Amino acid sequence: MSHITHPDVERYLYELVLPRDPLLARLEQEAQERDIPIVGPLAGRFLYLLVRLSRAKRILEIGTAIGYSTIWLARACAPVGGRVVTMELNPQIAQEAQRNIAEAGLKRRVKVLVGDGMDLLPRLRGKFDFLFLDAEKHQYKTLLNLALPKLKRGALIVTDNVLWSGRVAQPNPDETTRAIQEFNEYLRTHPALETVIVPLRDGLALSRTR
Ligand SMILES: C[S@@+](CC[C@H](N)C(=O)[O-])C[C@H]1O[C@@H](n2cnc3c(N)ncnc32)[C@H](O)[C@@H]1O
Repeated sequence: MSHITHPDVERYLYELVLPRDPLLARLEQEAQERDIPIVGPLAGRFLYLLVRLSRAKRILEIGTAIGYSTIWLARACAPVGGRVVTMELNPQIAQEAQRNIAEAGLKRRVKVLVGDGMDLLPRLRGKFDFLFLDAEKHQYKTLLNLALPKLKRGALIVTDNVLWSGRVAQPNPDETTRAIQEFNEYLRTHPALETVIVPLRDGLALSRTR
């Protein structure tokens, strides 16, 4: 629960989400037990539908963690033969992601790059039509700027946690909250982007490259 929407409404929304398969259900349980911040089923379903609707074939994710969102993205692009490249800084958690992705039967559809997106992005080949940004919040602006030249015209960008449990709207923001506020302003005024913030879960910014 991220406390952006009224708790009763949030509970209701979660009750409406369809049951997940045993693998996603296990990852949700593990994430909760080990305090790993994954997108969860509401935002997972949202990402899935965005990929399905846009028919994105080349998907880039920054911030894999245990591969939960990666599995939603990879399943969504499977019908059009799409592929996901995902980046994870922490080698141990990247290994876990690789195991989970293999268990999902998606090994050939997903490439996990281990390292810092700041170093990996400039070396990426080809152009992508979908970006999911879910990494270190202070790095969002730099990571986005490194990713933009790798995106096709009309690409979709989804950025997670842009409402930061509602703290972006509170007085006396801390350093991380200020970084997110600045990032949101950057998205809003960026001449190459059209953006809307969807207050689902912890807030998702949905942008399209012009
Ligand atoms: C919020 S978690 C990702 C959750 C995942 N997207 C999901 O919903 O299942 C953020 C992850 O990004 C990784 N990370 C943070 N900064 C990064 C960077 N600059 N490059 C690559 N990975 C990064 C962290 O190690 C962490 O595992």
